[in-house]
Amino acid sequence: MEISHHGVSIQLLPAMFIEVDKSHRCTMSELDSTWEVSEHPELEVPVLDLAVLLENSELEKPRPEDNDQPAGDMILQQRRRQELVKAMAKACQRWGFFQVLNHGVDQALIQRCEAEAHRMFQLPLDVKERVHRPPGASFGYGANTWVNQKVMHWAESFHMQLHPTSNIHDMAAKLFAESDPNQFSSAVEEYMAAVDGLARRLLELLTEGLGLEPGHFNQYLEKERMISMRFNFYPPCPEPSLAIGLRAHTDPHLLTILHQDSVAGLQVQIDGKWIPVKPRPDCFVVNIGDLFQVLSNTMYKSVLHRAVVNSSSQRLSLACFLNPPLNATVAAPPELITPEWPQIYRPFTWLEYLKNAYFPTERTWENFIVYLEGKDPSHL
Ligand code: OGA
Ligand code: NI
Repeated sequence: MEISHHGVSIQLLPAMFIEVDKSHRCTMSELDSTWEVSEHPELEVPVLDLAVLLENSELEKPRPEDNDQPAGDMILQQRRRQELVKAMAKACQRWGFFQVLNHGVDQALIQRCEAEAHRMFQLPLDVKERVHRPPGASFGYGANTWVNQKVMHWAESFHMQLHPTSNIHDMAAKLFAESDPNQFSSAVEEYMAAVDGLARRLLELLTEGLGLEPGHFNQYLEKERMISMRFNFYPPCPEPSLAIGLRAHTDPHLLTILHQDSVAGLQVQIDGKWIPVKPRPDCFVVNIGDLFQVLSNTMYKSVLHRAVVNSSSQRLSLACFLNPPLNATVAAPPELITPEWPQIYRPFTWLEYLKNAYFPTERTWENFIVYLEGKDPSHL
């Protein structure tokens, strides 16, 4: 089969993409996206229905013709909300991952953003290079390269920031100078704003799931919070068992809200096994990042995950990351620290983490612990 990467036709995987370390590769059975998780419901990342929240917000609106909202309905909805909070907390304790259905983000907006991502990746390489991400920088177009990484990912990525300052207009102006930059930036900004709203509601539910007031961590969501998004595009790969789409990592952030198209690829490591996250274009995949693991004093887990590629279909994912302001101190609250469950991590700032410890590899978290314990991470 002939495959095109960056517009170049290739039949065999070039050496720079071949992962020689077999522990990083996927076995053939792990690549098989037809693997039916429904036969193993215990091995399926939970899908949680947020419809009860949408109904609640409807209820909050004044109803002139119906002032006597039956108390029974309210109690039932409160109970369903409590069940949702519990299910979410349980998912984060075991999986660090869950999917949400009826999330309130308009499906048409998701499709518009996906269409813009495709339009962006289809631009000629020399145009995409106008927003090339220089080594060590966070934002722009390029390959996801990590410290000490020798093998290239079989993927293109484009990383943008919305808050505290947006670089979306500037990059759109360069990419779409010959057409309509606004079509791109308005879709992306609207999408990120909607996902930001969802992320903030989820953070409150997750906080409640820890037994805290829902707004307990809202200090982390102030104006200076950082919201970014990475488009990940995985072209069909001639030898998927030798290549890596996105190597195993944990996300450093507070929360990640990812949308995958209908092609499988995302896998989560649970009890040493790689479990595929079933593509559900009507859902978002939500996962706990390292910072939330710290805030929750490890009750919630930041779990290893990766993306695998396949030989027949391209795949697109949109990953939105919610972060605190750079100077916010990240520390588990006293309510979550007990003699049986002592404080696991010393407080640190997000900036400190990014500058000193964030080398995204499967060892990111271990490396960070070394750093927190006061050892020099520069050897890593
Ligand atoms: C990420 C990520 C997985 C995917 O961008 O951090 O884990 O399926 N992406 O693209
Ligand atoms: Ni990730």
